[in-house]
Amino acid sequence: MTEQIVILDFGSQYTQVIARRVRECRVYSTILPYHTPAAELKRLQPRGLILSGGPASVYQPGAPLPDAGIFQLGVPVLGICYGVQLLGQFLGGKVEPGDKREYGKGTLTLTDRTCPLFRGLPVTMQVWNSHGDKLTRLPTGFRPVARTENSEYAAIADERRRFYGIQFHPEVAHTPRGREVLANFVHGICGCGRTWTMRRFVERAVGEIRQQVGRERVILGLSGGVDSSVAAALLHRAVGDQLTCIFVNNGLLRAREPEMVREVFGRHFHIRLHYANAAALFLRRLRGVTQPERKRKIIGRTFIEVFEDALRHVGPARFLAQGTLYPDVIESVPIGGNPAALIKSHHNVGGLPGRMKFALVEPLRCLFKDEVRELGRELGLPEEIVWRQPFPGPGLAVRIIGEVTRRRLEILRQADAIVIEEMKAAGWYRKIWQSFAVLLPVKSVGVMGDERTYEYTIALRAVESQDGMTADWVRLPYPLLERLAARIINEVRGVNRCVFDITSKPPGTIEWE
Ligand code: XMP
Repeated sequence: MTEQIVILDFGSQYTQVIARRVRECRVYSTILPYHTPAAELKRLQPRGLILSGGPASVYQPGAPLPDAGIFQLGVPVLGICYGVQLLGQFLGGKVEPGDKREYGKGTLTLTDRTCPLFRGLPVTMQVWNSHGDKLTRLPTGFRPVARTENSEYAAIADERRRFYGIQFHPEVAHTPRGREVLANFVHGICGCGRTWTMRRFVERAVGEIRQQVGRERVILGLSGGVDSSVAAALLHRAVGDQLTCIFVNNGLLRAREPEMVREVFGRHFHIRLHYANAAALFLRRLRGVTQPERKRKIIGRTFIEVFEDALRHVGPARFLAQGTLYPDVIESVPIGGNPAALIKSHHNVGGLPGRMKFALVEPLRCLFKDEVRELGRELGLPEEIVWRQPFPGPGLAVRIIGEVTRRRLEILRQADAIVIEEMKAAGWYRKIWQSFAVLLPVKSVGVMGDERTYEYTIALRAVESQDGMTADWVRLPYPLLERLAARIINEVRGVNRCVFDITSKPPGTIEWE
C-alpha cells in the first residue's frame, strides 16, 4: 500500500492546499470527510493524520466532530487551527471564544526548542492566523511549545502519543516557513520517505490501467487541453493501440489548435486519432444566436451528436477515459462559510448522455493540476501542451459577445494568438491562471493614417486564480499592455481599440460570455 497521510476535512478553504503541500514533500496525501469512521482509517493504514481548519467552533451544537477513535489509532496527529481546538475538546483541554480575534500575520516564538515539529526552524518566525477561538487549558499530556502575541498555546505537543497542534496555518504562503513545519511532521514525525514521484505514479498507473482494461478498447475525447492530453499519453503508454482518441474540431478553437493536436498525438505519439471536423456544422447552428445560454446549449448538443457519429466510425469500445482530477472527486464538506464547495463544477455538467454505455477509466483521479503537468512532462508531452492555460469547452464562442460569425472568429483568433505570444515572451503566461482576448461587438471611430476607421473593440483579460472559483485581475506592466494593444490594433484587421478588464471574480466572471 502506498505510504500516505490522511487529511480530515473540517471545511477549511485551505484543505486542498494542505494536501498539495504534503505531496510537495513527495508524500501521498488523501482528503477524507471529517466523519470518516476510525475503522475505515485503520484499514487505510495512514502514516499520520492531519486535522484541517474549519469555520465552526468546537463547542457549538452541530460542530463537525471526528470519530473519537481516531485518537486511538496509534498514528501521529497534527491539528491545524480548528484541528487544535479538537485536540483540546477531545483530550481534556478547554476551548473558549478569544477576547481578540487573531487574524492575519503574527509572530510565532518557540518556547521549547526541542519539539521535532520545529526542527531546524528559528526561534521566531512569521505565521498566518485566522481564528476566533482559543485554547485556554491544555489537553492532558500536552505541553506548550510556542506562543504568539495573543495565544499562549500557539503550538502544543504530546511527544509520547505524537500528537501536535498549531493555531497558525502552515500551508499558506503567508507562513513562509510553513512547508518546513509540514515536512518535519510527515518525514521527521510520521517517518514517511519521499515515495510520491511521478515516475512511480506512471509505473503504478500503467499497471492499474492494464488490469482494469484488459484487452478491451478505450475511447477518449481529446480536447487539446492539459488534462485530456495527459490522460491520452498515459493511456497510450498503458494500452497502446487499444486506445482511440476522438478530437472534435468545433470551429471555436484557437489558432493552430487542430494542427497541433494532430501533429503531437497523431504523428509524434502515433496514437489512433479520429479527427472530426465539424466546424461548418457548429457555425451553421450558431447563426443568428446571441444569447449566452442558448449558445452553450447548441454547442453542447452538437458536440454530443458529432461525438456519437465519431463513435460509430471508430467502432465499439467498452471503456471511456476521462481526465477527471482530484479536486472534482473530493467529497466536499459544505460547512458554513465555504461557498466554493457548493458552487463547484457548474461547468461541464451533463457530458455524454446516459444511453452511451461505457465503463469509465479515470487515471488522473487522484492528481492535482500541478501534478498533472508534472506527469505530462514525465510522459514526454511538449511544453506547449503541458503549460496550457484553461480553455473553456465552448471555446471562443464564450469570448465573442453576441453572434458568432466566421469573420469574428478569425479576428479573435488572431488577437488571441498575439496575447499568447506576448504573454509567453514576457514570462507571464505560466505564472497566471488565464490571459486572453474578448471580442466586443461594439464599433467605435478611430484614425489610421489619414483615414477614419469604424471597427470592433478587443477587451484584454488576465486573471490569477487557484481554481477558477474566485479570481483577481493581474496587474500587468504598462509596457506589456502597450505592446499587446499596439500589436492587436496594428496587426488584426477589424480592430481599432483595445481595453483592459479590471474586474475581479466575484462580482465578475472570468469569461465574458
Ligand atoms: P467563469 O467564466 O465562470 O469561469 O468565471 C471559470 C473558469 O471556468 C472556465 N470555463 C469553462 N470551462 N467548460 C469548461 O471546461 C465551460 O463551459 C467553461 N466556461 C468557463 C473559464 O475559462 C474559467 O477558467
